[in-house]
Parts: sequence; C-alpha cells; structure tokens
Amino acid sequence: MQDQLIKSIKFQEAMIGIVGLGYVGLPLMLRFVESGFQVLGFDIDSNKIDQLNCGETYIKHIDPKRIKSAWETGKFEATNDFSYAQKVDVLIICVPTPLGIHNEPDLSFIINTVNALIPYFRPGQIVSLESTTYPGTTDEEVLSRIESRGFTIGKDFFLVYSPEREDPGNYNFNTANTPKIVGGATSSCLEVGLALYNSIVDRVVPVSSTKVAEMSKLLENIYRAVNIGLVNELKMVCDRMDINIWEVIEAAATKPFGFTPFYPGPGLGGHCIPIDPFYLTWKAREYNVDTRFIELAGEINTAMPQWVVDKVTEALNERGKSVKGSRILLLGIAYKKNIDDSRESPAVELMDILQKKGAIISYADPYIPVFPKKRRYDFNLSSVDINAEVLSQIDCIVLATDHDVFDYEMILNKSDLIIDTRGRYRGCFSNVVNA
Ligand SMILES: NC(=O)c1ccc[n+]([C@@H]2O[C@H](COP(=O)([O-])OP(=O)(O)OC[C@H]3O[C@@H](n4cnc5c(N)ncnc54)[C@H](O)[C@@H]3O)[C@@H](O)[C@H]2O)c1
Repeated sequence: MQDQLIKSIKFQEAMIGIVGLGYVGLPLMLRFVESGFQVLGFDIDSNKIDQLNCGETYIKHIDPKRIKSAWETGKFEATNDFSYAQKVDVLIICVPTPLGIHNEPDLSFIINTVNALIPYFRPGQIVSLESTTYPGTTDEEVLSRIESRGFTIGKDFFLVYSPEREDPGNYNFNTANTPKIVGGATSSCLEVGLALYNSIVDRVVPVSSTKVAEMSKLLENIYRAVNIGLVNELKMVCDRMDINIWEVIEAAATKPFGFTPFYPGPGLGGHCIPIDPFYLTWKAREYNVDTRFIELAGEINTAMPQWVVDKVTEALNERGKSVKGSRILLLGIAYKKNIDDSRESPAVELMDILQKKGAIISYADPYIPVFPKKRRYDFNLSSVDINAEVLSQIDCIVLATDHDVFDYEMILNKSDLIIDTRGRYRGCFSNVVNA
C-alpha cells in the first residue's frame, strides 16, 4: 500500500485534498495544481468555495491570475461536502489553531475537521497536519482518531506532521523554495510524507518524529516573539535616552555574523507570532515547566499598544489637545505591510484603546476596505482615501502599518502630527514622533 501510494504521488496520479483554504491552504492548493496534481479543496466557508469555483481570489496578495489559471486547468475544485474525502489519496489539514479566552490552545478546528473526515477515510490514504500546534497533537488528537476506524498507521494508513512556513506578502520565498520539515508517525509514514512534499518543494527536511516537527515550528515562532519583545524593550530604553532605535539596529546589522536584526513596532499581530508561543506554555505546564522567556516577551509585546497610546496622549498634550475629541486616523490596520490580514493586529487594539478614551477614530488601509468584524472588536468603519483635504481634518495620524502604497511624502507634508510606530520617517521632523 505504501509503495502504491508513493508511486501514484511520484507520477502525479494521486488526488490531493486540502482542508482549510485560507492563507496557508490556498497557496498550497495552487502549488499542487501547478505541479500537475488534481486537487480537491475542502472548506466550511461556502463564500470561499463559490469564489474559488468561479476562478476568483479572496486573499489580496495572491495574484487572481494564478487562481484563474489553476481553475482553467480543470484540475481544481472546491467543496464543503466532506464525503468527497474518500476520493482523494492525500488529505492535508490547514485549519486555524487560535487561542481560547484564557490563552489556552483551541484545537476545536483540528478536532472538528478530523471528526468530519473520519467516516470517509479509506485504506491507502495519507493525512498531513499542517496547522501550527503544540508537540504531541498529531499523536494525541489525530492518530488515535484514525486508529479508532481500525486502521494500522504505517501499514494501511499514513500520518505525518509538516509545519507550514507561509510568509504572506513575501515575494522572495514561496511554497516551492521554502524548505519543508516533515515528521512521520512511523518510518513508513515519513517515507510517504517525503514523497508527497518532494513533489512540490525544492527541499524537504525529514525529522525523526511528528513531535520534533511540531516543536521546530514553535521554536521558529517563539524565536521571533522573543526577539521582537527584546527589540521593543530596547526601543523604550532608547526613547528615554534620546537615541534613535532604528539607527542603532541599522548599525548593529552591519555585523556579518552572530546578529539578526529584528524591528520594533506597535505590538505583535497575525495568526502566528502572538498565539503559537502560548501553545507551548500551555503544554509545558503538563510537564511542570515554566516558559519564562515566552511569557516575558508576551508581556512586553502586549504592552506596546498602550505605550504607543501614551505617546499619542503626550504629543497631543504638547499641542494643547486631549485624546478625547481628537480625530485620530490609523494609517494601516493589517498586522504587517502589504497584506490584507488584520487578525490580532495591534492597530485594532490601538483603535479600541483610543476610541475608549474618546477619540474620533478613522482608518486608511487600501488592503482592508471595510473593517472586518472580530471576536472582540467591531468598528462600523470603512477605509478612507488619504488626500490633503482629509488630512487637514485629522489631529493625529498613527502610522501602524507601513504599506508601500501610501504616499509618505504627501502625508508628511499635510499632517499636523504623525506617531510613527514603524520607523518610516527616519529624519528629524517637527510633526513626527517615533513610538
Ligand atoms: N497565516 C499564516 O501566515 C500562517 C503561517 C504558518 C502557519 N500557519 C498556521 O496554519 C493554520 C491555518 O492558518 P491560516 O492563516 O491559513 O488560517 P485561515 O483562517 O486563513 O484559514 C483557515 C481555513 O480553514 C477553514 N476551516 C475552519 N474550520 C474548518 C473545518 N472544520 N473544515 C474545513 N475547513 C475549515 C476556514 O473557513 C478557513 O478558510 C494555523 O494553524 C496557523 O497557525 C499560518
């Protein structure tokens, strides 16, 4: 069964099922289609399915032409009917892994997905979990459920964990040229997993278990969270000492070894860096281990929006104004530049704090035309077009996300006050405050 599955993958005869067609699943689906595979996409969001089945995209940084040409090959279809899972040879799970209200892992999407697929599993399939999660999830939550169907893992059914390294908006690295880590539940699972990913990426990195693969993904994201926490702390120290943190980083980054630059900002955002480290914190408690670095970095990073608000308050005060009643415009609300994802964005937290203090809030983000309702926040707002007239009515701009499309020179020339959280304005300007 193993040889047959590997052979069908090698000759692109295997049919691929991608479950969860979001920021991770959609580019993966495109890569499989572009590599010659027949792909069936599964999602519970019928709007996404309808759009994909018309050859349209719902993720701005993914070129609509790619979706259209994938669709035109006739090798791709999307559905919310999970019974089609029995048709595919490969099932790759890319569903969300958020945190619950007490910062505990919320595995309900993974569990619901596996439960929905279970009746349709058949011998000779491989399941690959790609959602980011704590070490042990594949064994504890997925393997046991597959075994409950009576399959023997590694003989008539195969299971791997392969973390996703998608970096939305990064035009240098894509699915094909980003090395992919794979860990198998057994050695034969690993062999099938290697065949699968070798067919779409340039370099596959095998590891000895699913747990190692799960932990490696957390290490990558914890490394970022901790280093961003460090540089945010240094930003606050530099601010007190009247030293420009951006100049400091630029200088330090000239060291050709032993230093990787990280950049400060208004806090952490996105579906990964603010969330994933706490998956490990939660799991480590089961082993009586405290994850002090993770929690300290979390503390510093989550305090950043308030620090920025203090800067706004101070700067308005110097101009004889208060936050209450001031018209404050957030420039960019995506969690990072040039993408349309505002999940966990610190800009949204800034909007919330400032509005609660009585500011009249607006935002400009061409990537997010209408504010998307969130679990904790809902602003009945649409993005405004930035021009001299609009800027003349604004008391303070908070530059939260430095999308390249903004006309920074015009904004600089036409604004009374800019709180720059991204170091976009490096010179000395009377209307710019670094925060
Ligand atoms: N976004 C990133 O840059 C990124 C990078 C690396 C890893 N990850 C990880 O990948 C996973 C997915 O993240 P994402 O950003 O693609 O999320 P997303 O919210 O963009 O996409 C998830 C998709 O899954 C669908 N879905 C939810 N429940 C489902 C179910 N039961 N069955 C089928 N589909 C279902 C949703 O409708 C959505 O379309 C997460 O674990 C995340 O941590 C994300």
